[in-house]
Amino acid sequence: MSETKTDAPKKLFIKTYGCQMNVYDSERMAESLDGYVQTDRAEDADMILLNTCHIREKAAEKVYSELGRLKPLKELKPDLKIGVTGCVAQAEGAEIMRRQPAVDLVVGPQSYHRLPQMEAQVRAGKPALDTDFPEEDKFAHLKGRSTARRAPAAFLTVQEGCDKFCAFCVVPYTRGAEVSRPAERVVREAQDLVERGVREVTLLGQNVNAYHGGMTLAQLIRALAKVDGLERIRYTTSHPNDMDDDLIAAHADTDKLMPYLHLPVQSGSDRMLKRMNRSHTAESYLRLIERIRDVRPDIMMSGDFIVGFPEETEADFQATLDLVEEVNYGYAYSFKYSTRPGTPAAERAQVDAGEADERLQRLQALITRQQRAIQESMVGRDLSVLVEKAGREAGQMLGKSEYLHAVHIDDARAQVGDVVPVRITRAMTNSLTAVEM
Ligand code: 5AD
Ligand code: SF4
Repeated sequence: MSETKTDAPKKLFIKTYGCQMNVYDSERMAESLDGYVQTDRAEDADMILLNTCHIREKAAEKVYSELGRLKPLKELKPDLKIGVTGCVAQAEGAEIMRRQPAVDLVVGPQSYHRLPQMEAQVRAGKPALDTDFPEEDKFAHLKGRSTARRAPAAFLTVQEGCDKFCAFCVVPYTRGAEVSRPAERVVREAQDLVERGVREVTLLGQNVNAYHGGMTLAQLIRALAKVDGLERIRYTTSHPNDMDDDLIAAHADTDKLMPYLHLPVQSGSDRMLKRMNRSHTAESYLRLIERIRDVRPDIMMSGDFIVGFPEETEADFQATLDLVEEVNYGYAYSFKYSTRPGTPAAERAQVDAGEADERLQRLQALITRQQRAIQESMVGRDLSVLVEKAGREAGQMLGKSEYLHAVHIDDARAQVGDVVPVRITRAMTNSLTAVEM
């Protein structure tokens, strides 16, 4: 290929790690950088951004390995600029540039609206670093979203940060204090997404059900339900203590709100929950789910678990297994505790790593069994699917059920963006197969 002409758009490669909020942030960063088009090949890029995750040690270390792999590209192409964004950028700041001098730019999740100025600065040959928590709202300063067509399911950040300070978690330090976006801006962004082909939005927040942007999350969901053309609404991630009565009621009275709820509990042991600073008990969590299931019996529950938290005994772990048995999760994500510098739990007596691995395997085996049984119970049932793209096999389309299962529709008539009734014919490990009704 010949060298890019100076007036041709430059190419931007973004690699996104971690949570859905990073996916959303990556889109906003790409849109904010005028004069760039996105590429999915790092080798072609004039600018590479790694949008990083700091939640566990492994996630953070991956960033340094990737930077090591990218370094030779920069030797081949001296004009290439490399940036680190997201939560590792926030947590490690200038240390990243010290550890990997190939990095030109470091910007945290609360200041990436300054990316265009920073890009100009690095183009002028000066490294750029910004890990502020500025007073101004980054969303008010970010460039308006473009008019390009979008995939039918989109993320929409409505709340950021966390004031809960669970003893293991870096989020309150990397994302900062809880901040909600004003409801009218969220509704406007949803309308804009719908005009560009979106049919489903997932409202994002580290503590999304603590939303308070002039209204509660339940009120926001009801306002969004009035947006013509928006067919489905989801929200994630929620804290049990912020699940108020009105939000529970919304699961019964708002048809567009999907019957799926990600509600992390972390442990089934009250002793561990207390040590984790969770401010709820296993019993209060179970009663909460009971109340939600009273109004929406078919709701698909999802959760997060940490095993091997400092001082966790076999009896504590058993309490987690018991809780998982009782809830019967459609989805559950389990992690081995990872020591995060600066968090309270980092100072405590750590569980033997082999023991923690073994517990993780036992928990994951139970979760897998539960998920499989739920998947299989879907066979013969009639569900509704939002079609997202063509499937792997000829004539097949791929989409998501209301319960968030991936569904392959055989011999599909439906097009991308349609919501269609289907009958489930087969359950596979990670997806279902269906025919249109
Ligand atoms: N170690 C392991 N897992 C963690 N999580 C958060 N912090 C840690 C940690 N230090 C998990 C929690 C949370 C999910 C996003 O990541 O389960 O809900
Ligand atoms: Fe982290 Fe706890 Fe806040 Fe979730 S609620 S982001 S686990 S501190």
